[in-house]
Amino acid sequence: MHKSYQPQSCYICPLCAASLQLNQSAKSYVCENNHQFDLAKEGYLNLLPVQFKHSAEPGDNKQMIQARREFLEAGYYEPLAKAVSMMIDANHPNHLLDLGCGEGYYSRKIETYCSNPMMLHGVDIAKFAVAAAAKKQPNARFIVASANRLPYADRYFDFVLRVFAPSNDDELKRILKPSGLLLTATPGPRHLWQLKQFIYAEVKEHALENELPQGFERINTQRISYKITPAPEQRIALLQMTPFAWRADQRVQQAIKDAEELEIETDFVLTLAVKLKS
Ligand SMILES: C[S@@+](CC[C@H](N)C(=O)[O-])C[C@H]1O[C@@H](n2cnc3c(N)ncnc32)[C@H](O)[C@@H]1O
Ligand SMILES: [Zn+2]
Repeated sequence: MHKSYQPQSCYICPLCAASLQLNQSAKSYVCENNHQFDLAKEGYLNLLPVQFKHSAEPGDNKQMIQARREFLEAGYYEPLAKAVSMMIDANHPNHLLDLGCGEGYYSRKIETYCSNPMMLHGVDIAKFAVAAAAKKQPNARFIVASANRLPYADRYFDFVLRVFAPSNDDELKRILKPSGLLLTATPGPRHLWQLKQFIYAEVKEHALENELPQGFERINTQRISYKITPAPEQRIALLQMTPFAWRADQRVQQAIKDAEELEIETDFVLTLAVKLKS
């Protein structure tokens, strides 16, 4: 039996929205209308039916996911992971969702750094990322699903973490309890400035504070900025994690690799917000 899965109704069926229960064999989840979803060997659940997929491999591809894991495991974003974990621990949630969890780096860090026990969930649309996350963290529950149709019961979570990932305001509100918390990590005005200088003729700073979803109120904003000096290969891994990677052709990538001792600014904005009761 897969120990991290207990028969309780955190999931709803992606086809009919009825509650999903772990069946007797503990190998799959089933709803009252007999829609069945098997646990993968890595322990995750795929709740993204093929008819809701807009492409064969939605989300980040294998290459992007491997590049991200390699870069993150080298520790360059460790201060962000620590700050995120501290904010979570201070609010001692019971059920936390890592939305757009990717290959699970922040989920693993939360398990390492938070002293308060909690049930950790992660969701991402990229199957390969979720499989990699589940393999490394058997105590957490990972699923494949879209942020636009989250197969979780209403008001199941008291904390949602969103690190550089897309979300849907209505779904966020639906899955959070009243007074539930939302922590988002987004790029700050100077994030990866020196990398962008290789790509854009003129790099521009954008606004510090980003918009909150409707129905949420800001509690606080924390800015985390520091410099990193990744090795040439890791600069390329970092580049591949960004939304502007597609702009960097071979020539630009070579220039990034060839630069001596490239110091790159990181700049993260952590925003903690609360779901309003109404
Ligand atoms: C920039 S990555 C961040 C991943 C992770 N939070 C991290 O920082 O390591 C964005 C993630 O969002 C996922 N994603 C994109 N569209 C999504 C959607 N509609 N629903 C759920 N996840 C999505 C991608 O597959 C990718 O893993
Ligand atoms: Zn069903």
